[in-house]
Parts: sequence; structure tokens; C-alpha cells
Amino acid sequence: VGQNLIKLLEVDSTNNFIKDLVSNSEPLTEGTVIMADHQFAGRGQQSNVWRTEPGLNLTFSLYLKPAFLAIPQQFLLNMAVSIGIRNALQIFIKEGVKIKWPNDIYHNDRKMGGVLIENMLAGSTFKASIIGIGLNVNQCIFAPELADRATSMKVILQEDVNLIRVLAEICSNIEKQYLRLKSGNYKELLNDYVSGLYKFDTLASYRQNGEIIEGKIVSVTEAGMLVLLINGEKKEYNFKEIEFLNH
Ligand code: BTN
Repeated sequence: VGQNLIKLLEVDSTNNFIKDLVSNSEPLTEGTVIMADHQFAGRGQQSNVWRTEPGLNLTFSLYLKPAFLAIPQQFLLNMAVSIGIRNALQIFIKEGVKIKWPNDIYHNDRKMGGVLIENMLAGSTFKASIIGIGLNVNQCIFAPELADRATSMKVILQEDVNLIRVLAEICSNIEKQYLRLKSGNYKELLNDYVSGLYKFDTLASYRQNGEIIEGKIVSVTEAGMLVLLINGEKKEYNFKEIEFLNH
């Protein structure tokens, strides 16, 4: 991952850039990374926009072709990528780096980055998986509505961080986890993912169908459902059903 790196000054979205290459059947080596100094139409999860200061942060996408995965197993890829990013960031930041289910990158109670995975399917197999990653690296000033919820590596470390060093660590750590996924070691992968989750095994409030519930994250299913322990009872939720409160 990342051996083949294409750096763009400006693009709408690095995810779109790969999607267009794949749609036009352009030859593309698995593991290719497209990064951009500036995205003018960066996309986040749930049709959000992803805005970052040009040149200060990492915005990139990597192209994978997980032909070994069945479509219902796609959350496993999500896990492998999230663990890889977390492991890479822990090289720079000793404590507090977590994955907020399903795949936000958090430091303590603030968001440092996010992942947007878009899969292109061909029948019942993966034609491509586009892993888009946005990480706040050297940005220190955030829009007012994000000011108390966002952070960056520079804010945490109090020094400038070399973008390419971070990119290289993320790529090599994702590759490690991707190979582990390929080898079929799902149980270990799931354990690492769950134990690295923000609010794992910690009582916290969630909003579910307009109601506030209190529970502890105890695990995540292979399909990616969040398992909460609520009053001694385990309940499973999908991404649309539940929301973390205050974040
Ligand atoms: C989120 O937290 O909502 C996910 C953000 C993902 C942003 C990245 S930046 C590189 C890639 N290209 C995009 O348009 N989005 C992803």
C-alpha cells in the first residue's frame, strides 16, 4: 500500500478520482494511493462535506481489491483499516487514540479524522474498495461549530508534523492489517478493533429513536452492529439506529 503514490494539487475528491479510473477501466495497481493538497468537494460519511485547510492535512484515498471477501463481510475491511490507522497514529501520539465506531478517528473526546469507504461491486464480488481517509495533521484553527469537537496531531503534540511520514506509517500499518484480514484471522482483528473503541466498556449515553439510553459498548458483530450492554441486557444497533450523545 502506497508504493504507487499520485499526488494531486487539486481535485474534487480523491475518492471520486479513483472511482472514475476504475469506472473507465484504467489500469490501476492494488494499493495505489491518491493524495491531494486540496479537495474542493471532499465528502464525508452520510453525505456530509469534508472540509480541510489546503496543504495542512492529509486527504487521500487508497485503492484495494479485496476479492477474497464476500460482500456481507465488508465491515471486516472497515475494521482492518481503522486498526491500521490507529496503530500508525499511536507511533506519534502515545495515549488517547481511539476508533469511534464505526470508523472515526478520535483523540480523547475529539475527532481527529474520518474514513469513507466506498465499494464498487461486480455481481457478488468486489470490483474495488476505495478507502478515503481525512486526517487533521497541522490544522490548529477550526470552524466555530467544530471548535470544541475537532483536534489535530499538531494541537495534540504541540509541533509541526511531517505529512509524508504520517502517510507512510498509515499505509504500512493498513497493509499489515489488510494482510491479516486476507489470512482469515477475523477473531483477532475483531478483538483489536473492539478493544480500541472509543467508550469501550465505559458507561455512556446514546440517542436511539429520540430516546436517551445509557449503556456500555461490549462488542461489535462481524457485520458491524454495535453491541451495547443496557441494564444487563445485550442489544445490537446499526449505524442509523444509534448516535453517541454530545459528539
Ligand atoms: C467522515 O468522517 O465523515 C469521513 C471523512 C472522509 C474524508 C476523506 S478525505 C479523502 C477522501 N476523499 C473524500 O472525498 N473523502 C475522503
